[in-house]
Amino acid sequence: MTQKKTLKLPKLIGHRGVKDLCPENTLESIARALDIGLSFIEIDVKISRDKQPILLHDDTLDRTTNGSGLAIDYDYEDIKKLDAGKFFYKKNTNIFVPKLEDILNLCINNNGNLNIELKPNKNFEKENAHQIYEVTKNINQIDIFFSSFDMISILEISKLYPQSIRSFLLDDFKEYNIDDLISISINQDLKICGLNIDLISTDIIKKIKKSNILITVYSDKNINLSSANDIFSIGVDSIFVDNPIDLLGKF
Ligand code: G3P
Ligand code: MG
Repeated sequence: MTQKKTLKLPKLIGHRGVKDLCPENTLESIARALDIGLSFIEIDVKISRDKQPILLHDDTLDRTTNGSGLAIDYDYEDIKKLDAGKFFYKKNTNIFVPKLEDILNLCINNNGNLNIELKPNKNFEKENAHQIYEVTKNINQIDIFFSSFDMISILEISKLYPQSIRSFLLDDFKEYNIDDLISISINQDLKICGLNIDLISTDIIKKIKKSNILITVYSDKNINLSSANDIFSIGVDSIFVDNPIDLLGKF
């Protein structure tokens, strides 16, 4: 129960490590992000069948490993045997799907801070939040904030860990609009929100900032220097970067 209530966000947050430079959500990707100077790294986390919080973006293992099927149907010892680098390097590698604990240790040893995104997990969302809370509750050496697109996950982590910093993510306005986002953030004491780059405008950013909520922005593609300048000029606090090489030292 150790995370604090205030957090200073850096302008650049590594996205799944640095996903355009290394296989996403792996030790290699997070180590590289830290090595090139990012202080905060975003990772996607869900539990395996034996309730181990692991790094994986998708529901299934198919896209980023040489396995297939839902991660929740496998114990971690079997997931760990899969190749999590082959999809990126197009040849066999020894890169594996790490546990959240591996990444926490890496960050603690290298002064890295983490944004842990709680991913949906086929009705195991509450259990995800519970296990992630268990693994992180006594960490005080690094800063952590939690985020999710999934309301069940946000409500659960807010309930379990009210003193943590949390962020609701919006990819579109189908279910929630900006007024909903602001009222959810205020009601759940969420200090940060995250928006798809396609949703933002000067007016929207101004409206959110009036409520004193920090704003992060992500994109399906790497955000380049000129977009980053535009985004920061309207008041966005941080962006998620897939390949920050051209942006380092610029902000
Ligand atoms: O939190 C920002 C970003 O990670 C959200 O999108 O799909 O890359 O997890 P995604
Ligand atoms: Mg993510």
